[in-house]
Amino acid sequence: MFRFPAVERHGIVWAFNGEEPLFDIPHLPYPEEEMVVRRTVLKEMPVEPWLVQAHTMDLQHLSLPHDFTLDEDPNDSVRVGPYSVGFDLRARLRGGPHFDVRVDIHGTNIFWQTGTLDGRWFFWIAPLAIPGPGRSRATFVYGARREDGEDTAATEAFLDRARTAMMALFDDDTPVLGTIRFRPGLLTHSDRTLARYLEYVRKYPRDNPARAFLT
Ligand SMILES: [Fe+2]
Repeated sequence: MFRFPAVERHGIVWAFNGEEPLFDIPHLPYPEEEMVVRRTVLKEMPVEPWLVQAHTMDLQHLSLPHDFTLDEDPNDSVRVGPYSVGFDLRARLRGGPHFDVRVDIHGTNIFWQTGTLDGRWFFWIAPLAIPGPGRSRATFVYGARREDGEDTAATEAFLDRARTAMMALFDDDTPVLGTIRFRPGLLTHSDRTLARYLEYVRKYPRDNPARAFLT
C-alpha cells in the first residue's frame, strides 16, 4: 500500500501525489481564530484542474469576459517558479469593486489568492480535486480578518461582498471551462503568459506513486 504524504491546513486535508512533497502548502498571514472563514465544496466540473488554471493564467480573459479595468498590465508581474506560477492583479471589477490581489497557482491544481477588496484584506483559495479523468471538484475556502472591535456580522457582511465579486467571476468562467482546447503553434504575443504556464505544466514533475496499489 502507498501512503500519500498528507497535512491538514486551512480546514482541508492535502495529499501530495509523490513520495515527498515538493512544496509546502502556504500559510495565511493570520491565525484562523482571528478570521471568519467559510468553506464550500462545489459540484464536479467536466474539465481537468490544469486546464482550469490555464484559464486563470490566460490573462487576456481578464478583459473578456471579465471586463476588468486594469490599473497596470499583469503580464509585467508574472512569476514562474519550479512549483508555482502567479501574477499580481490591480483592477476595478465590473460594478465598481477594486481588487489588489496576488494570484498564485501552486502545483497545477491549487488556486491561491490573497489581497484586498476595496482596501480590505481577504483570501480566496480553491484547491481542485481530481475525482476522475477529465474532471475537477473545487473547494472554495475564503475568509477575512475580524477587525478590532468588529462584530462577526460585520465581517460576514464583508465576506458576502467578496463572495459576490468572486462568484461573478466564476459565473463568467464556468461556461467556457469545458470548451478549452489548445493547438500547438497558435498562440500569439498576447498569449505570452499562457504560453509560460503551458511550458511550466510540461516541465512539472508527474508521477503515479500508487500505481502498484491501483492496478
Ligand atoms: Fe476568470
